[in-house]
Amino acid sequence: MTNAAISFRQTNGGAGAFVENVDLAAGLDTATSQKIIEALGEYGVLFFRDQHLIPQEHERFAEKLGTININRFFQPVEGHPRIAEVRKEPDQKYAIGEGWHTDHSYDQIPALGSILLAKELPNHGGDTLFANMYLAYDALSDGLKKILDGLEAEHSSRHRFGANSKAGSGKLDTTNRLGNSEKATQDAVHPVVIRHPISGKKALYVNDGFTLRFKGWTDAESKPLLNYLYEHASKPEFTYRFEWQDGSIAMWDNRATWHKALNDYHGERRLMHRITLEGVALRSA
Ligand code: SIN
Repeated sequence: MTNAAISFRQTNGGAGAFVENVDLAAGLDTATSQKIIEALGEYGVLFFRDQHLIPQEHERFAEKLGTININRFFQPVEGHPRIAEVRKEPDQKYAIGEGWHTDHSYDQIPALGSILLAKELPNHGGDTLFANMYLAYDALSDGLKKILDGLEAEHSSRHRFGANSKAGSGKLDTTNRLGNSEKATQDAVHPVVIRHPISGKKALYVNDGFTLRFKGWTDAESKPLLNYLYEHASKPEFTYRFEWQDGSIAMWDNRATWHKALNDYHGERRLMHRITLEGVALRSA
């Protein structure tokens, strides 16, 4: 099967599209892979249903789309060091990624995005929210756009994954899920408004998970404007809430979206397999 009949149906919300007429286990030809990458750039996140991939198929799908990035902080799937586990056990309270964020903005060359595959789901809850950073930027006033277009921001992994962070110091019950706090040494500077590497559209590129401040501004000066942007960009009209089923995949683009894992299923296990793809250096709009 070539998957040549693949099609994309936009969600009813602010972010994403469902990918239809595709069987990822059957493999992709180059033209179909290209369609997926272009749709990812356009919609920011793609959702697939009924793709019960084994780890080798998951890796093969990822390799068709780009180069796999090996995560420094997440536990890998046994026997598959290129696949990270996103796991929460019934006795654990904290969920990985439960605040709005975009992955890897602390890297000078941030990862393109991730392919998250549902392996074990709670009976109720555990949805993931996505927010569209094209729409968030477009909806700002011309005055604020003009200010943001000229700014850069500083991002870091230290306060989230480092030895002194809540996760790194064990306060968040991340045993067997997150590690290597000594490797949380990344700091990066990126434009606040980027020209998206695939779609060519302008996107807002700050996030509550990893952005520290605007470059050349103090924390106190940065905080009110950053907080305004976080509130603005997470408005319901820019978001979509994805309900997982067995075999669902969400594949997101870190440069066009934020995401947030809802932590509303205490007492149940949720296990996902995540493969991350390498990205490119970002340029200002
Ligand atoms: C993540 O932030 O990578 C986790 C998303 C999820 O578990 O839904």
